[in-house]
Amino acid sequence: MTTLPRTQAEPKRTKPLAVAAKGGRGDARVWVGDCRDVLPTLPEVRNREVRLVFADPPFNWNRAYDQWHDAMPDKEYLDFTYQWLDLCVGALATNGSLWVNIPDDWAAEIVVHLKQRGMHMVNWCIWHYRFGQNTSQRFINSKVHALYFSRDPFTRVWRPERVLEVSDRRAIYGDPRTESKRDGMPAGLRVPMDVWYGRYWGRVQGNNKERRAGHDNQLPEVYLERVILACSEKGDLVLDPFTGSGTTGVVACAHGRRFIGVEYSRANAERAVERIRAGMVRKGTASAPTSTAFHPPRQGLKGKRRSADER
Ligand SMILES: C[S@@+](CC[C@H](N)C(=O)[O-])C[C@H]1O[C@@H](n2cnc3c(N)ncnc32)[C@H](O)[C@@H]1O
Repeated sequence: MTTLPRTQAEPKRTKPLAVAAKGGRGDARVWVGDCRDVLPTLPEVRNREVRLVFADPPFNWNRAYDQWHDAMPDKEYLDFTYQWLDLCVGALATNGSLWVNIPDDWAAEIVVHLKQRGMHMVNWCIWHYRFGQNTSQRFINSKVHALYFSRDPFTRVWRPERVLEVSDRRAIYGDPRTESKRDGMPAGLRVPMDVWYGRYWGRVQGNNKERRAGHDNQLPEVYLERVILACSEKGDLVLDPFTGSGTTGVVACAHGRRFIGVEYSRANAERAVERIRAGMVRKGTASAPTSTAFHPPRQGLKGKRRSADER
């Protein structure tokens, strides 16, 4: 690992602390520390055993992350970003995938860097939410980029049939062509589009049942459920270098994956482990096909659309 001057306080422990959640809720280990220090020490990382990395790093927006100082100079933030990205790429199995959740500010630099590291971009998805920070100075932010890269585009784990949605053709028009699909997908269903929104896809705020105390940046369970079901198999090892409230871990374990997380704040890490033990709130949302159509069904199709949604 490159050593650069750090503005962050060094974690109190030089040796990573493992917080085990083995047993009832699968196999999860959350390590406390800077992921740049912890990842190189993990045998699963050194042996490239990780099938799926999901990374939702600090955005450098000066947010309160318990311990992490979220306001680095840009150059330092980019150096930090490239360091953890390289470690994550190095952890991946040959058929492994890497997802990064990142705002407009840094998406371009990350895409270029991953391409330079030989990774293949599979999708540049958008997570769209309706409650962005209000402003009158520019257009209101209502999205984050969900960047999907693989080491090998041909052998990557890809199981979209687990996360299908109702096609607009069926939901709006009741088009009979959707009933005899030639792409191998079931009648009326399609692989989700690359812009993600809908019920339970909003930012986790207010009295949302998923909400965990002390976390402003918690991702919705359905987002991780779509990624994990489509890009990993039961028993696979999933890594999240920025565990936060533990969304990746709770979804991974609820679906029979093994999980390694790293979290800079010990308090966050402990809460994430509690959450993994408690289990998901909305398990199965990503695999229950619903419609995200903007338009209501055409006259006379209301019954059909309802039955498609209920499948
Ligand atoms: C955007 S939040 C992750 C939120 C998470 N996806 C969730 O759904 O709860 C980023 C987290 O990374 C942690 N963090 C920041 N820098 C870190 C580092 N260098 N190593 C490990 N964790 C770090 C922060 O403390 C924060 O909890």
